[in-house]
Amino acid sequence: MARSLLSHFPILSNSTSPLASSLSCAIAPSKCFPRHLFGRPKASSFQCLCTLSVSEPAVPETSSSVRKRIVSGVQPTGSIHLGNYLGAIKNWIELQNSYDTLFFIVDLHAITLPYETQQLAKSTRDTAAIYLACGVDTSKASVFVQSHVRAHVELMWLLSSATPIGWLNKMIQFKEKSRKAGDENVSVSLLTYPVLMASDILLYQSDFVPVGEDQKQHLELTRELAERVNYLYGGRKWKKLGGRGGAIFKVPEPLIPPAGARVMSLTDGLSKMSKSSPSDQSRINLLDSKDVIANKIKRCKTDSSTGLIFAPSTFIISAVSML
Ligand code: TYM
Repeated sequence: MARSLLSHFPILSNSTSPLASSLSCAIAPSKCFPRHLFGRPKASSFQCLCTLSVSEPAVPETSSSVRKRIVSGVQPTGSIHLGNYLGAIKNWIELQNSYDTLFFIVDLHAITLPYETQQLAKSTRDTAAIYLACGVDTSKASVFVQSHVRAHVELMWLLSSATPIGWLNKMIQFKEKSRKAGDENVSVSLLTYPVLMASDILLYQSDFVPVGEDQKQHLELTRELAERVNYLYGGRKWKKLGGRGGAIFKVPEPLIPPAGARVMSLTDGLSKMSKSSPSDQSRINLLDSKDVIANKIKRCKTDSSTGLIFAPSTFIISAVSML
């Protein structure tokens, strides 16, 4: 078992592997746009920004000049909102100056719930444009579409085989999303989604992952999975099989900002701002006009309860639910 799994991690030990070469992704947009997902691509309307080359073996850092690596991504579903900006994208801009940064648009995550093909293709381009508009600089960071790099899915399959299903059943986001979607719309991929996210991160031997608070549990699973694979197949076992020994995967750390990690909905003070909320009034989209934003803020709920609440030592006035 160990031998067969290890032989499937060639990216970590063999720079000429198919996985490694698929990461050197200077792919022409017309070739790398997966047609089954996006229909016929318009090569002229989308510039693939893949400048990534991750084909080097994962050797331990030997000098302090080796930059630590950071990866992160946003799903191209709905429109990007203030929560995505404050919880994630804003922090990327600073980090790209001192780290080796990879920011992807996670289109494969977006198909875990029902989606519209044409719309997804458009949102994928729009999300890339928003990254750039927010200040992601392609001369410093690698920006690419997740589905353009096949190795994400290939590693996901290998990791799935090392993931106990009980770990996935516990995921809060799965429970929430599947409850909302209803049985007929709950796909297997919605359950295994965190394994794909782990693959996005572990594939690049990432050191840090800047995300909002809602992704904390997924990051914990990623760390546990890395440790599990390292324990099951790494170290001496790997060395005996001809590998370099040591850890197969780096165990990444989440980077959760002290402020803005959980921006709340404008219409429900108990829920986080979300792309999937049916009400557009619940979020401030980055592409909303000044007037629309002003209007949404004027109407937003500042508290989930109304009236005066008596607490033992003090009166808490929570009557104001409108600005
Ligand atoms: P997604 O697309 O739901 O959200 C993108 C980023 O925005 C953060 N975020 C928020 N931060 C503060 N307040 C909010 N209300 C809020 N809503 C969202 C999220 O925490 C996230 O950082 N599974 C991920 C995408 C992903 C990923 C990855 C991220 C896939 N692979 C690898 C990092 C590394 C997701 O669905 O994010």
